[in-house]
Amino acid sequence: MVKVTVCGAAGGIGQPLSLLLKQSPLITHLSLYDIVNTPGVAADLSHINTQSKVTGHVGKDQLEEAIKDSDVVVIPAGVPRKPGMSRDDLFKINAGIVRDLAAAAAKFAPKAFMLIISNPVNSTVPIVAEVFKAMNVYDPRRIFGVTTLDVVRASTFVAELIQADPKSLRVPVVGGHSGVTILPLLSQVSGTEKLSQEQIEKVTHRIQFGGDEVVKAKDGAGSATLSMALAGARFTLNVVEAAVGGNLNIVECTYVDLDADKEGAADTKKLVGEDVEFFSVPVQLGPNGVEKILPIGQLNKFEEGLFASAVPELKGNIVKGSKFITEEPKL
Ligand code: 2OP
Repeated sequence: MVKVTVCGAAGGIGQPLSLLLKQSPLITHLSLYDIVNTPGVAADLSHINTQSKVTGHVGKDQLEEAIKDSDVVVIPAGVPRKPGMSRDDLFKINAGIVRDLAAAAAKFAPKAFMLIISNPVNSTVPIVAEVFKAMNVYDPRRIFGVTTLDVVRASTFVAELIQADPKSLRVPVVGGHSGVTILPLLSQVSGTEKLSQEQIEKVTHRIQFGGDEVVKAKDGAGSATLSMALAGARFTLNVVEAAVGGNLNIVECTYVDLDADKEGAADTKKLVGEDVEFFSVPVQLGPNGVEKILPIGQLNKFEEGLFASAVPELKGNIVKGSKFITEEPKL
């Protein structure tokens, strides 16, 4: 029995994400929560002839029922960006939304894997972590920031340049999930040695600011929803496959508390600083979530420079998220 709850299921990401999850034979109960429209989305999806049961829950009064005993809680809830906004500009609204959902999960599904999509991910993941700490149910191995879209974009953009198959091209992307904190490690991808430094810099920038391309093209109607849903579903299904299916061969880059595997993260800490608590790293998934944090690997000079710009911004984002709970808990 695997119950997956999507919080924000009626939204731009939530609907296609729920559709993709409905197709998985690994999920037995798909629970859809939002503040509006979930009964309709649930009724619609429930006609699809796959095994999972679909339930819809609407409004705060039904949050307990939605989330209770979930194995996985995926959170794409909140507001998206408009042109000219950074992900950090969403903090004011989304921080409180994520805090309240995390508090409900900590209470009614404390062992659930928490998969955070709501932006700014660099700060919302520390928020969830602090809520779980405050409620004495924190296990750093079970809380993830979903940065899979950066990896998906990197595969697409780099494959285009080196004429590879984008589906099988794996580009490690570490760091955080906004602008300069997104760190694609192109030197580790075979085929990129034929690119000029100018091409490397251009495609690195495109991966870092890929979300802006979509925000601009949508012209006020929001940010990436469909590609984000695909990325979120891929990550969710990989977490379930490793936890329930017993597959220990799945590695995904994801934004986690580096304490989830202190030994595995030791080299990363040396590189980015002992005081950086959260970082997206390659993670081997397993029955408890993070099985192992794998090394970031070799960087070239250009990538070292990217790390130097990323770390101070990321640290600020982490502190902002943590303080939101430690200084004004409202739980
Ligand atoms: C993006 O990267 C929505 O954060 C998401 O486009």
